[in-house]
Amino acid sequence: MSIFHSSVRLAASATTATATSSLTSSSSSHAVTTALRHSATFATAAAASTMSASTSTPRPRASSPSSSSSSLGSRRSSSPTNMAVDANAYSSSYATTASVGSSRGFASSSSPSSSSSSSYKPVLTTKTINPNVLKTEYAVRGELSNRANKYAQLIADGKAKQEGLPFDSVVTANIGNPQQQPFLAQKPLTFWRQVAALTELPELMDTPGMDKVFPADVQERARLLLEDVGSVGAYSHSKGASVVRKHIAEFIEERDGYPADPELIYLTSGASGGVQLLMQVLIASRDTGIMIPIPQYPLYSATLALYDATPVEYDLNPFDDWSLDVEAMARSIDEARARGTDVRALVIINPGNPTGQCLLEQNIRDLVRMAHDKRIVLLADEVYQANIYQPETRPFVSFKKVVRDFSKSSDAAERRIADEVELVSFHSISKGVSGECGRRGGYFELVNIDAAVEAEVYKMASISLCPSLQGQIGVDMLVKPPREGEPSYDVYRRETEAIHATLLERSEKMAAKFDALPGVEVQPAQGALYLFPRVTLPPRAHDEARKRGKKVDEFYCLEMLDKTGICVVPGSGFGKMPERDTGACFFRTTVLAKETDSFIERYGKFHTEFLETYK
Ligand SMILES: Cc1ncc(COP(=O)(O)O)c(C=O)c1O
Repeated sequence: MSIFHSSVRLAASATTATATSSLTSSSSSHAVTTALRHSATFATAAAASTMSASTSTPRPRASSPSSSSSSLGSRRSSSPTNMAVDANAYSSSYATTASVGSSRGFASSSSPSSSSSSSYKPVLTTKTINPNVLKTEYAVRGELSNRANKYAQLIADGKAKQEGLPFDSVVTANIGNPQQQPFLAQKPLTFWRQVAALTELPELMDTPGMDKVFPADVQERARLLLEDVGSVGAYSHSKGASVVRKHIAEFIEERDGYPADPELIYLTSGASGGVQLLMQVLIASRDTGIMIPIPQYPLYSATLALYDATPVEYDLNPFDDWSLDVEAMARSIDEARARGTDVRALVIINPGNPTGQCLLEQNIRDLVRMAHDKRIVLLADEVYQANIYQPETRPFVSFKKVVRDFSKSSDAAERRIADEVELVSFHSISKGVSGECGRRGGYFELVNIDAAVEAEVYKMASISLCPSLQGQIGVDMLVKPPREGEPSYDVYRRETEAIHATLLERSEKMAAKFDALPGVEVQPAQGALYLFPRVTLPPRAHDEARKRGKKVDEFYCLEMLDKTGICVVPGSGFGKMPERDTGACFFRTTVLAKETDSFIERYGKFHTEFLETYK
């Protein structure tokens, strides 16, 4: 059994001794033994690294007109962190208090501008472009992914042997992109592609014999969509095609039992497009604080860096199902506000990425109450709502439902929450069982947002004219799939059930096999498409990482890629830093690889050899 199953919690300030005793109180797994063996050594190594960091030259900040004079400098992430492993390379194993704007490894390093013998000075250099761009980082597609692409190209060019690659395929487990070829290759849903095909080429509907290929409900849906949008080559309404928004409203009402207004629903270019749009509206100045989970999906840290807002981090507890602590979050809002940060929104990813936890209804209720009490806008990222692995004990419950459920409270003050708490919820066609990432479709719903602000959101949406029409059509398929009795239903049901079953099987199998490896603990996913194992690495591995100027999780993941061709993402890319007190670190892998057994075998062999090398 993994220590994740225990209720051990380590406080932010835990010393090696308390960490050790806490770990001892949990089960006596090999992982615990490993953690214990190394914890003392880590305290020393980390202290040494902190000391060397504190005596080194301060790192430069990205220059911006407002940054030099601001006292924010001490509490915002702006400086490159990849140059050397320093105090920022570690955190304690679990902190219940949120921190404001710590660098957490999000910032990127800037490259020197190129020199040339010509007297022409380029307008655009890394010194002149938007400094926020320099500090924006997106680990899911960072150094590892670039190196993986290089390896994949060498293999495709038949140069793998010549270049000495010890593997003949690259497994892209770094990104939740189910249809990626050749190793994930989830088959697209037939209904989706048939409707998409007819909307692309409506003439097909007049072709003799087409009824044999395109069932009647497919043709009917394509006609309905085309009646509204005319052509998929034309701009639609900036909020998205009205027929699709109507179908989304019906979907939400059926899911939650409360009506939704199509006028408050916006189609977007993936959920990412919606998040970015909302952040533009929400962020009023660099003092605007947005709460994000740690670990988190880097869309959030990247967007906050880009728009120069202040991240207010709250921790998910790796020792207790990645739960969140609502009271600690409330305290940290007060603390951040006392420091001058205008905390105004809270991002919740449910089910979680990278952690896979699925919030209990009671948890969501507490969060909604807290948001009302503290006047915080809820940003509910619910893109994994269909990826649920423990439906009996951990069903998906939407924030919208919980907010509206307050209308049934016997307490008049609580009833007001239903119509007062400001909420934006996001959904996407990229995940679930459709996995249509490349189509770029998503939507958000505004709940209890001031009408004048809604008008501004509409204006902002209008600037980009409209989201991709095929993305919008994808959303229509997502929210209005074939129903029982309709011609496409049997195929649809067979396909979706098979994908669900495969994801569940892979997720459970990978979690069990990973957990059985020495020094690796992983909590089985309750939802989403990932596992986030905790790996305790020996002190010599930390030394080696330091020598190479890498965080230990980056070093481990780069070695994994070089030795196996498996590309995953280090935990620090999600803001979850290696633990100073135990020496453990994290990485995220998707559960999408087709060849699960070979994936596990490749990883297991690498991990065992890695431990042997650095023991
Ligand atoms: C939590 C979360 N939110 C949003 C997104 C973005 O998805 P989309 O492809 O819809 O932009 C992702 C993608 O992986 C995600 O994991």
